[in-house]
Amino acid sequence: MFKSVSILLFAACLTGQVMANENSETAKAAAPDPAALAQKLQACGACHGEKGDKPLLPEYPILAGQHADYLAAALRHYRDGRRNNVIMAAQVQALALTDSDIKALAEYFSKQPSPLATLHR
Ligand code: HEC
Repeated sequence: MFKSVSILLFAACLTGQVMANENSETAKAAAPDPAALAQKLQACGACHGEKGDKPLLPEYPILAGQHADYLAAALRHYRDGRRNNVIMAAQVQALALTDSDIKALAEYFSKQPSPLATLHR
């Protein structure tokens, strides 16, 4: 219960942020409904971890700390078929991700503490 309430509150904050930073991309799509966004976020968490840092299986990617524009591009590519993966195509379709959902989800995961690091040469 507490977990879903906190996810809901976080999604509400995210939506506020998206609305505040309205740019040409988000202006086209309405800001996501916080409750719907929280549900979508929870779905992602099942495989990628609640914060995108603890994937269910080692071969599932870590989303936490990746660039938001990269994550958003990947999601758009799963949606339009440019990137082909059965599992993610099914997610994007089942959850009917809109442009503003994609932006909010990508921003959320990009801001989470990440176990990823850049290799130094
Ligand atoms: C059933 C498990 C599952 C669920 C649920 C799921 N994913 Fe994924 N996700 C995967 C797998 C597996 C991959 C790797 C696919 C590939 O190789 O292209 C992936 C890849 C991704 C990538 C590309 C990452 C990269 O490093 O290129 C993004 C972004 C992503 N998922 C976001 C999400 C979001 C956002 C949600 C929720 C809306 C979500 N995923 C839900 C399993 C899942």
